[in-house]
Amino acid sequence: MSRTIIVSNRLPTKVLRTEESLTFQPSEGGLATGLGSIYRADGNVWVGWPGLFVQDAEEEQYVTEQLAADSMAPVFLTEAEIRDFYEGFSNSTLWPTFHYFTQFATYEQAHWDAYVAVNEKFCAAVLAQTGPDDIIWVHDYQLLLLPELLRRARPEATIGFFLHIPFPSYELIRVLPWRSELIRGMLGADLIGFHTFGYMRHFLDTVSQVLGLSAINGQIEVEQRAVRVDAFPMGIDYERYAQAAASEVAKEHEAVYREALHDVRVILSIDRLDYTKGIAQRLRAFELLLQRYPEWREQVSLIMLVVPSRDQVAQYADLKVEIDELVGRINAHFRTIAWNPIHYFYRSLPLEELASLYRLAEVALVTPMRDGMNLVAKEFVASKADQRGVLILSERAGAARELSDALIINPTDINQLAEAMHEALVMPEEEQIQRMTVMRALVKRYNVFSWTRLFLNQLAYTKMKQQTLATETLTPAPTNQLLDAYHAASQRLLLLDYDGTLVDFHPNPQRAQPDQELRLLLRALADNPRNRVVIISGRDRGTLEKWLGDLPVDFIAEHGVWLRAAGDEWSLFQPLRNDWKRELRPVLELYVARTAGSFIEEKDYSLVWHYRRVDTELGAVRARELLNHLSFMTSNTDLQVMEGNKVLEIKNAGINKGTAATRWLSQYSPDFILALGDDRTDEDTFRALPPEAFTVRVGSAPHSSARFHVGSPTEVRQLLRKLLG
Ligand code: UDP
Ligand code: G6P
Repeated sequence: MSRTIIVSNRLPTKVLRTEESLTFQPSEGGLATGLGSIYRADGNVWVGWPGLFVQDAEEEQYVTEQLAADSMAPVFLTEAEIRDFYEGFSNSTLWPTFHYFTQFATYEQAHWDAYVAVNEKFCAAVLAQTGPDDIIWVHDYQLLLLPELLRRARPEATIGFFLHIPFPSYELIRVLPWRSELIRGMLGADLIGFHTFGYMRHFLDTVSQVLGLSAINGQIEVEQRAVRVDAFPMGIDYERYAQAAASEVAKEHEAVYREALHDVRVILSIDRLDYTKGIAQRLRAFELLLQRYPEWREQVSLIMLVVPSRDQVAQYADLKVEIDELVGRINAHFRTIAWNPIHYFYRSLPLEELASLYRLAEVALVTPMRDGMNLVAKEFVASKADQRGVLILSERAGAARELSDALIINPTDINQLAEAMHEALVMPEEEQIQRMTVMRALVKRYNVFSWTRLFLNQLAYTKMKQQTLATETLTPAPTNQLLDAYHAASQRLLLLDYDGTLVDFHPNPQRAQPDQELRLLLRALADNPRNRVVIISGRDRGTLEKWLGDLPVDFIAEHGVWLRAAGDEWSLFQPLRNDWKRELRPVLELYVARTAGSFIEEKDYSLVWHYRRVDTELGAVRARELLNHLSFMTSNTDLQVMEGNKVLEIKNAGINKGTAATRWLSQYSPDFILALGDDRTDEDTFRALPPEAFTVRVGSAPHSSARFHVGSPTEVRQLLRKLLG
């Protein structure tokens, strides 16, 4: 039975050193609280850092044993690693960059080196825990290199990756000196998940810009693997928060607070200390509320819980000072003997006390500048059993995509924020109930359990699809089988695609003419009377004739439109029309004018739009547009638009390389068939051939109907040379 190995930098339990001993406490932060409810099932293990520096082997063993009893396997970090990996690269480079705070980002080689080393350390720790059938699920920005490291160690492993923070626009990622390594690291996973579609879009764009890999329907072809990318908005353990809020303990705490506060109405904010959370702006907005609406003085208080976090990083320490000063200033200015405008707590609280605060508050202020998801918003909603209460939510928190019934604000707009607080305080009960009911249903339904299920099911499905569509690499064993079959056969049919198969692509297709080595190779093969060599190409017949016409080979040109047996005349596969070209050519010309580097190729019975020389991203966008445009124009005609390798081709439907190859099969009855091709048009050939045929896809091709796979035209030529003995 397979287990799930969860891996994150921080374990859901953190170890603290007190004067007498070590104590164990739940960790803060959305990742730990969110996944905390699910990891113990089915013998799962959570691998991660317990959050402190252990001094000796004895302490290490004690912590390991204690955590093992609760299904956790600790990875210990040295003081230098905590400084350079955790406070350094993770929280001074990646965290600010991914949250659009590049002004805070540092770029230190030593931090990067530590990041690589600690990811390797995690890799070893995970491998030690993982059996061959186990699923590995890596979490968050501290471990971006881990999926690829694991992939190298276990090529067959099932690896998922989820990013809990935003994935920013490519313009931010491009600043990082190590951007390619980071993106490649993530692509080691089989499934990569983000909270929102927006983050996913930025990621796909970045992959295309940084590595030149394009995605089709959220799928990226990485070497021999199809990697899936998708959005999975994370939920919370709804029942846990609902029950905590309904518990007697929470009610008792609430009663105590209520008595102390008298009738003052409560606005609540809860965050880790972090400059991404918009805490200072929120305080200024509260100040503005009290200035602009004096009637709220002595009527409303802000309860603000800030949980200590990363206080060794300079910006966090600075923020702490800024908040202390702001709270001091506002309180000093507005407070009365009976009323305190801001109740500010700098500590973490246990669940029951959080629950009582959620109960107490009429308004929750969740106003981050950027936040991957923000679970506090969802916890507040889950705690409001009486459906009353108003959530004010930043448009730049991932949660805003789902909780659109909150009052959505721009957190930098302090005016809007102050107005939203006023609006929340005067909102009629009926409207509160209406909004809260919708949000509660959503938070209840898309909880952390359904999130986990969706992610893991998608991961299993991705793996299954990879396996069913995987082509076997043509290693020595199948190569020998192929050679044995070849030598035993008396009538052999060799179907050879040209571009990308026999020769490499050239930016200008007219310059991809055959070299002497290739011509000699083809001639030697074709001279053998037991062989029939067919060049099966999308090229026009004129070019094939000019380049290879003197060789004793057969031709299938224009993807099956024109046929020629060696020494014969060209003939059409069937009578065809080409009068449609007049109408469609202007459309292609329009796209050439709009897309620098693209051009049109005209064949007898088809038109081709080439975009190999176009900027990768633009090419992909324009190709999609043109495909839509042409699909519309060719519907209800007998034309077909076909996508090839950086080309779109309009041609007569019903004729392709497969239908043409079938004609050779019926006329020639071979007892050995070898077909080589590199793009989607060759898939028609592969599918048309009997199962015993040796079908080989060239290049990166995780999805192919071919049985085998080789990397490049160079390997194709090596194989053909082997046939010659
Ligand atoms: N939290 C906590 N103790 C506290 C205050 C907050 O455990 O004293 C939890 C809170 O309930 C929430 C998490 O910390 O589950 C914060 O997650 P969120 O996604 O809002 O922000 P993050 O800290 O991950 O950036
Ligand atoms: C965010 C991150 C988590 C991190 C948490 C607490 O939620 O996404 O990966 O664990 O903050 O931060 P810390 O640095 O204390 O682990």
